[in-house]
Amino acid sequence: MLTGDRPTGPLHLGHLVGSLRNRIRLQADYDAWFIIADLHMLTTKNTPEDIACVDKRARDLVLDALSAGIEPDQVVFYLQSAIPEIHELAGLLQSLVSVSRLERLPALKDMARDAGVEMSFALLGYPILQSADILSVRANAVPVGKDNYAFVEVTRELARRFNGKYGEVFPVPEIIAGEAPTLVGTDGKRKMSKSLDNAIALSDDATTVRKKVMRMYTDPNRIRADIPGTVEGNPVFAWLDVFGSDRERIGEMKRRYETGTIGDVEVKALLADVVNEILEPMRERRERFAEPGLVDRLIVEGTAQVRLETQATVLAMKKAMGLTGAWNRIRRKAERSP
Ligand code: TRP
Repeated sequence: MLTGDRPTGPLHLGHLVGSLRNRIRLQADYDAWFIIADLHMLTTKNTPEDIACVDKRARDLVLDALSAGIEPDQVVFYLQSAIPEIHELAGLLQSLVSVSRLERLPALKDMARDAGVEMSFALLGYPILQSADILSVRANAVPVGKDNYAFVEVTRELARRFNGKYGEVFPVPEIIAGEAPTLVGTDGKRKMSKSLDNAIALSDDATTVRKKVMRMYTDPNRIRADIPGTVEGNPVFAWLDVFGSDRERIGEMKRRYETGTIGDVEVKALLADVVNEILEPMRERRERFAEPGLVDRLIVEGTAQVRLETQATVLAMKKAMGLTGAWNRIRRKAERSP
């Protein structure tokens, strides 16, 4: 199983329901790999300032994952840019996909728009680089959030095409879908995202969580508690549906909300409690794993391991394609000539 994130900021509740919970649930059943995709970050954030943050953000990512329930002895963490063979692998895949196939991906256009950048060559190749990540360890399963499905579809096509053209090298990886639909942010408008400033980070403390929940968007037409409110599309209730466990109490609150017999503050107070209950055990785990050097050691050991794995895959690809044969014949002739 392979998955991962760009080191662009802390993991938040959207990551938790989009893929992190799947990663945690599946870590014991699979050989699990967790990429810190800093080369992917460069497709939209490539200033020296962005790059200067990579090591800190990489550490934070790993610590977020460990806090949320990933076990350090179950998962291999690694830094993408420290494995140059990933680029080599991506290069070998590039002739198997057309430019127009990539240009048609709405997810890429959204990324360019959200980041305020033009569609660069690198951004267009984002799904190919991601495919190289996935195929480098010959992953069978990829737990990702919805916005990544289209990219992993490209990976599946590339694996099939490579196998069909040159011989079986890759399993065709399955997408493991998130448990909940995309989580809306505190603004109630767009999906939760660090860059849109509408996220609750897994590392937020209890007071911050409460503040953010209290300021959350609700039904804008409800200016008093005795006005009947709308539950449908209301992010406060959407979150309660995703994170709450007391179905009866939530059902009762929805009824009272719709009949104008409960205030927003009471509903939000419950939501803040619910979210903090989920984050509290993570806060304890975070302290446990914050031991200096632990995360760095995990990344260094993991990167060495994945580099070997990637080198073996690149060699298998080159053999299947006949590239090693060509090189060997040239070398042999060179040796035999006077
Ligand atoms: N595209 C992922 C994101 O949205 C990051 C990523 C890079 C990834 N390579 C991957 C995810 C391989 C799963 C598998 O941040």
